[in-house]
Amino acid sequence: MSILEIVEFPANVLKEDAKPIEGLNSEIEKLARDMVHTMYHAPGSGLAANQVGVTKQLFVADISSEDDEDKEASAIIIVNPKIVEMSEETITMAEGCLSVPDFSADVERAAWVKVIGKNMAGEDIEVTADGWLARVFQHEIDHLNGTLYLDHIGRMKRQRYIKKRKKYLNSLKD
Ligand code: NI
Repeated sequence: MSILEIVEFPANVLKEDAKPIEGLNSEIEKLARDMVHTMYHAPGSGLAANQVGVTKQLFVADISSEDDEDKEASAIIIVNPKIVEMSEETITMAEGCLSVPDFSADVERAAWVKVIGKNMAGEDIEVTADGWLARVFQHEIDHLNGTLYLDHIGRMKRQRYIKKRKKYLNSLKD
């Protein structure tokens, strides 16, 4: 398994719509496994394919519990995920993103979501998530639609981050 390079803001690929995956093959399987490996290495709670530069509808998320010996084997992988139901109740909580370094901000999200998609065996799955996982699902599915959590926060806060980030990126050029 390889550790993939995580694409960072403001890379264009993070704004692209990921394309549905037509058929599962060994290439997609390897991508998913590498993404799981990369997520735990980072570490993060989820990773969407465009974060590793691949515009395909696929994300992985950590659903392991404390006493899971093989966390990577227990990660959830969802192909062509779609939110089909969500709670009206929302929860506002701080979140971050591996593609948005050195930042976190409060984001309002549905308290629970029902997601459909396919697993790596090509079977239809339906997962209802609440708590932190519901937030991760919404965050990762946003990624696949070219949306970052920065798009959900106040304009001033977002502008401040973009300015800071540009300054940092410019400092690397000197
Ligand atoms: Ni993210």
